Amino acid sequence: MKKVALITGSYKGIGFETAKQLGQNEFIVIVSARKGKRADEAAERLKAEGIEAFSVKLDITDEKEVDKACKYIAEKFGKLDVLVNNAGIQLDNDSPNVPNSVETVSHKILKETFESNFFGVVGLTQKLLPLIVKSEQGRIVNVSSIMGSLTMHADKTSPIFNLKPFAYDASKTALNQFTVHLAAALDNTKVKVNSAHPGWVKTDLGGENAPMTVEDGAKSIVELCMIDENGPNGGFFHMGKPLPW
Ligand SMILES: NC(=O)c1ccc[n+]([C@@H]2O[C@H](COP(=O)([O-])OP(=O)(O)OC[C@H]3O[C@@H](n4cnc5c(N)ncnc54)[C@H](OP(=O)(O)O)[C@@H]3O)[C@@H](O)[C@H]2O)c1
Repeated sequence: MKKVALITGSYKGIGFETAKQLGQNEFIVIVSARKGKRADEAAERLKAEGIEAFSVKLDITDEKEVDKACKYIAEKFGKLDVLVNNAGIQLDNDSPNVPNSVETVSHKILKETFESNFFGVVGLTQKLLPLIVKSEQGRIVNVSSIMGSLTMHADKTSPIFNLKPFAYDASKTALNQFTVHLAAALDNTKVKVNSAHPGWVKTDLGGENAPMTVEDGAKSIVELCMIDENGPNGGFFHMGKPLPW
């Protein structure tokens, strides 16, 4: 049976392109979106390109939808080879003139950001793990960001030093910790878990000034989905090169 991949938040942006590139590499892809119709349409667009695609409605912060999606995958495929935790939000952008939001960001924005970028990812992954360990080559890729790097944020010479949207950055740092802990927990299994930084990519989240296309942005993720048994476990990468935590 072909390998099966679930990509969260994948009706547009880096998620859709990741689904497309995995499909072009012979994966069966399950695209998902908070609005079911958007997921269905994304699957149709992929099918039109000859990709074997399915769709699920999935808000990763909604436990009932998570349970439903897990049941669907279990019944239809009996395993999951690749989970791409791509869904994510950046809400600090509400005050773009304040490069460091740590003194002003509201608890509401902090909580909402962590719900999608961290708690939802952990909850979904935990529930899918029994299906992922059934794979001969289970891969989990957490779509993180260089903005989650503590090392780079603490370095005054780093290109991100003067840009500190606190809620987003802290949620991606927490996500990276999830990568490290889960990789350690699964070290004696066939499953590998890594964080990817796609780059600064032109999407609704990345904005119009971003220099990278979605085609290039998806590459770091797809590469980690396709590593063999000698590939890394518990690392943080951009275009195959390690990034500092
Ligand atoms: N673009 C960049 O420069 C850049 C850089 C570094 C990292 N990243 C990361 O790359 C990932 C993809 O971002 P993107 O740039 O492609 O942005 P995007 O076009 O805004 O896509 C983000 C997707 O995540 C979905 N999503 C958000 N919260 C969700 C939830 N609770 N449940 C399910 N889906 C949810 C969104 O759905 P809705 O439309 O329904 O909100 C949307 O489809 C994110 O994790 C982001 O942090 C992006």
